[in-house]
Amino acid sequence: MQKGQMLYEGKAKKVYATADPDLLIVDYKDDATAFDGKKRGQILQKGIYNNKMSAFFFEKLSDAGIPTHHVKVLSERESLVKRLEIVKVEVVMRNIVAGSLAKRTGLPEGTPLPFPVLEHYYKSDGLGDPMINEYHVRALGLATQDELDTIAALSFKVNDILKAITAQAGLDLVDFKLEYGRHHGQILLGDEISPDTCRFWDSETREKLDKDRFRRDLGKVEEAYQEVLRRLMGPNK
Ligand code: TMP
Repeated sequence: MQKGQMLYEGKAKKVYATADPDLLIVDYKDDATAFDGKKRGQILQKGIYNNKMSAFFFEKLSDAGIPTHHVKVLSERESLVKRLEIVKVEVVMRNIVAGSLAKRTGLPEGTPLPFPVLEHYYKSDGLGDPMINEYHVRALGLATQDELDTIAALSFKVNDILKAITAQAGLDLVDFKLEYGRHHGQILLGDEISPDTCRFWDSETREKLDKDRFRRDLGKVEEAYQEVLRRLMGPNK
């Protein structure tokens, strides 16, 4: 599959057209940003790790009946995906209090939640992705109630599946962000699933093994991404 014109360059990925209007190529970069792009850096080999890990998760989710945009891995940093009309709502699922939920509620990081908590954020770089609710989503015309219901049902299923996979790898799935899009009228899971978009803690030591190491200057950032990949996919990956 030949790379065509570059359609979009985001903070962590570039997206290219292909000869097939239904398919795009995603190219994962090593660039890392945090706090709406205010903090910038590079995480060596991150593009390779995130491409592999996302494909691994998307394939597991697809096997479990979740419709995703993933088609196949093309190279170390590239994957073929279905073209989506992105729903401008980011879904965050939380199992354990961390990050902005700790700030918003005053609950200490690490507090287990009695049930998974789903949040919506308005996908708008200019506004800094503010938190919104279902009424805002519908009033702004970002998604219909039907689409919101589909997205919520899928997100809870994704949480169950990812929790089971990560538990086997000795990781607690603290929280994660999902993005969806429309493809010929169907809602598909898109974007990526990686330590950029999930919080993974070692189940025993609670050591952070995700992008919080970059956000909070904790060191050993590359090592954390590599460790998560190794635990999920084995030593040869
Ligand atoms: P938060 O606690 O900062 O709201 O983050 C919740 C989860 O969402 C965490 O796993 C990291 C992920 N996330 C992204 O993928 N992109 C973002 O821009 C932000 C702020 C969080």
